Amino acid sequence: MQDEQQTNTSEKNRMILENMELNLTFKLPLPVKITHMYTGILHLHRTIAYLALILVFVVMVKSLYGFINRKPHTEGDRKLGLFALIGSHLQLLAGLTLYFAAGYVGMWSNMSEIMKDADLRFKIIEHPFMMIIGIVFITVGYSQSKKATDDLKKHRLKGVFFLLGLACFLASTPWDRLF
Ligand code: HEM
Repeated sequence: MQDEQQTNTSEKNRMILENMELNLTFKLPLPVKITHMYTGILHLHRTIAYLALILVFVVMVKSLYGFINRKPHTEGDRKLGLFALIGSHLQLLAGLTLYFAAGYVGMWSNMSEIMKDADLRFKIIEHPFMMIIGIVFITVGYSQSKKATDDLKKHRLKGVFFLLGLACFLASTPWDRLF
């Protein structure tokens, strides 16, 4: 039973790859270069993942520490939050590029098949959507903290929203592919 499931998953993954190749080879003018570009963006996406996860974690810890210990909100704190925001947005950009290039949008018409297969469901639905929700938390946290006028409120907003964003990131990172 498990073997059969495994075979089904590999078969579907093979079909996805074929579909991806079709998209890349027939719809775009420079197939080889574009395929290389996809691999390049996938590597970039994995590299930025480390950066974004570390930065968001550091900002979250620093902000909660600053809030609990009533520390002033410095220019350094603002810049660190900005770098975490930029890292998350770069990750979003790379992720969306991969998503469209792999032709995942075209597969939405087969939603019932996607939902039945844990591997496909993760790649096409859970990973992207959870990450986008996480990035929304980070963006709201940064902008609300920037608007706030007192230092404790700045720390609190960033700490809480970055914690929520980080929880989404941690829950939906494909750890086996990251290491
Ligand atoms: C901080 C946020 C994110 C993290 C930490 C993250 C992490 C990762 C990792 C580690 C991989 C595997 C890379 C590899 O196999 O080399 C991956 C793949 C991928 N991610 Fe993300 N990601 C994030 C956000 C997003 C977003 C927002 C999207 C799309 C909107 C997205 C779409 C994808 C796609 C399409 C793949 C390729 C899946 C496949 O076909 O194997 N990611 N991501």
